[in-house]
Amino acid sequence: MPLLKVRKIRTFTLLFCVITFTTFLFSYTFRDPSLYFFKYAFRLSDNFFSKGLCACRQCIAELEDDPWFAERFNQSIHPLMTRENSALSDETFKWWQWLQSERQPANFSEVVEELFQVIPDEVLYMDASPERCRTCAVVGNSGNLKGSHYGGLIDSSDFIIRMNQAPTTGFEEDVGSRTTHHVMYPESAIDLDNITSLVLIPFKTLDLQWIISALTTGTIKHTYLPVMSRIKANKDKVLIYSPTFFKYVYESWLDSHGRYPSTGFLSLLLAVHICDEVSVFGFGADQYGNWHHYWEENHLAGAFRHTGVHDGDYEYNVTLLLADKHKIRMFKGR
Ligand code: C5P
Repeated sequence: MPLLKVRKIRTFTLLFCVITFTTFLFSYTFRDPSLYFFKYAFRLSDNFFSKGLCACRQCIAELEDDPWFAERFNQSIHPLMTRENSALSDETFKWWQWLQSERQPANFSEVVEELFQVIPDEVLYMDASPERCRTCAVVGNSGNLKGSHYGGLIDSSDFIIRMNQAPTTGFEEDVGSRTTHHVMYPESAIDLDNITSLVLIPFKTLDLQWIISALTTGTIKHTYLPVMSRIKANKDKVLIYSPTFFKYVYESWLDSHGRYPSTGFLSLLLAVHICDEVSVFGFGADQYGNWHHYWEENHLAGAFRHTGVHDGDYEYNVTLLLADKHKIRMFKGR
């Protein structure tokens, strides 16, 4: 036989063998447990070449890697209120009304309707995709930020979420200067600039009436405490924390510990749901075990740990667990 013909036959035989072997693998491998090695190898290469859930190095919403996280994380509950998701189940409404009970609450759905005539009714941040890498910094108010030099790191995130008083002027080196979202409730409210989103955590129907009033007529001056009658904030950027999400955080993430979650924990879970990568700053005690705020000179000053309504230790342990599982990055300060 001429040499050329022999080579052709050999090439053809080799090609035939490769095709047969590959077809065999694809047809049978994934049903036969003895061939799981191939399945695993294919999945690894698949993950390597295909895009993940997000464009970051690690995506928070990845459920396959941790059953504890997967059991708790419910992506179908939207953290922010819209007209569409504003209706509360009887159980949620009862629970929510119990948080800070009102003697004569106004009609909830009428107030919600009035609210969305003042602020936008938009579904925001639910745009997760393999192309998105949204990095977020959640900045609590712990004294462990003092001397931390985290300012640059915090400011480099896409979203910077602060809460309650959280002053930045004079503390830039440690806490940064940018804020994209400021989480508050009427009794902790402060004025904001025009580019920051005010995220209101409502504990009662009156809180929704308060934000309407504070952005318009200024008639509400008192809840259970005196409150700011007017607030400087861009009303086109006001967001409302959903009571349904609030209850989900309490039950699924805190196993109903404490009376209700702290502003910091609620902000953290907001970030877990709207971001792809979450870095956490300013949570917990400082190196001496003090729980004061970073702007307080007095280390023994009573911060959130002494309010009696939150289970600070449980919240902190869940936060540490999230960090252990590489879902968030925890910066413990000094
Ligand atoms: O005290 P305040 O509620 O304004 O602080 C905001 C949040 O920061 C708290 O809800 C808590 O989650 C966190 N924090 C903390 N450790 C502190 C102070 C505040 O974890 N020492």
